[in-house]
Amino acid sequence: MSSIPWTALFGDRVRVAVQRDGDPSERPGRGRSADFWHAALEEAVLSSSKPGSLEITTVPGHAPIAIAGGVPISVSFSVTAGHRACAWSRRLAVGVDLEAVTPQFENDEVDRMLQTASADEEVERIRRGLPAVNKHGQLIHLWTAKEAVLKSLGTGLAHEPRLVALRDISPSGCWTEVGGIAIDVQWLTGDGWILAAAVRRE
Ligand SMILES: CC(C)(COP(=O)(O)OP(=O)(O)OC[C@H]1O[C@@H](n2cnc3c(N)ncnc32)[C@H](O)[C@@H]1OP(=O)(O)O)[C@@H](O)C(=O)NCCC(=O)NCCS
Repeated sequence: MSSIPWTALFGDRVRVAVQRDGDPSERPGRGRSADFWHAALEEAVLSSSKPGSLEITTVPGHAPIAIAGGVPISVSFSVTAGHRACAWSRRLAVGVDLEAVTPQFENDEVDRMLQTASADEEVERIRRGLPAVNKHGQLIHLWTAKEAVLKSLGTGLAHEPRLVALRDISPSGCWTEVGGIAIDVQWLTGDGWILAAAVRRE
C-alpha cells in the first residue's frame, strides 16, 4: 500500500487520515475498518521498529483494541458515505467521527435534530462559536464532536449525547467534561466531509 498522508492533531500526539472508499452515495460496510486500515497503520506506527506485528481486535459495539510491536496504542475508526477515517495515538485515548457534509435535511429538520442532540443553551453556543457555518454544518460539527467524545470513552451512543455539553466552541474545536473526565475535541474539514477527533486530556 502506498503511504497515506496522516494529519497531526493535538500537538502531534494524534494522527488522523481520511481515505475514499466506495460510492459517495453509499456508506461502506460496517465491521471492516480494522481490515481497511491495518496496512496503513502498520506502516505508520511500526515503520522502523517491528513491521508485521500490529494486532487489532474488534468486538461489535466496543472500541477496537490495538497492540503495536507488543505495546498498546489507541485507535479509532469511522465510516461515512464514500469515505473512511482512522485516528491513532501512542499515549492518548482517542475517538474519531467522520460525516459527509452533503445537505440531506431541510433547515427545520436540522433544527429538530439539533434540539434532540443538545441542550438549548448548547445550540446557542454552537451558533455563536461557528457563525460562518450554515445550520447543516453546525449540526454536523456538533454531532461529530459528541460521537468522537463518546468513542474516546469507549461507550459509544450507550451514553446519552445530549448529556455531553460542548464548551468554548470555536472553528477549530471545543472541549467537554464527562463524568469528571475532561476531553478535548478538534475538527478537520475536507472535500465533502467533517471529522472530529477527541482525546482525554492528560
Ligand atoms: C460507536 C458508535 C457511536 C458508532 O456509530 P456509527 O455512526 O454507526 O459508526 P462510525 O462509522 O462512526 O464508527 C464505526 C466504528 O466505531 C467503532 N466502535 C464501535 N463501537 C465503539 C465503542 N463503543 N467505542 C468506540 N468505538 C466504537 C468500530 O471500530 C466501528 O468500526 P467498524 O464497524 O468498521 O468495526 C455506535 O455504533 C455505538 O454507539 N455503538 C455502541 C452501542 C452498540 O452498538 N451496541 C450494540 C452492540 S452489538
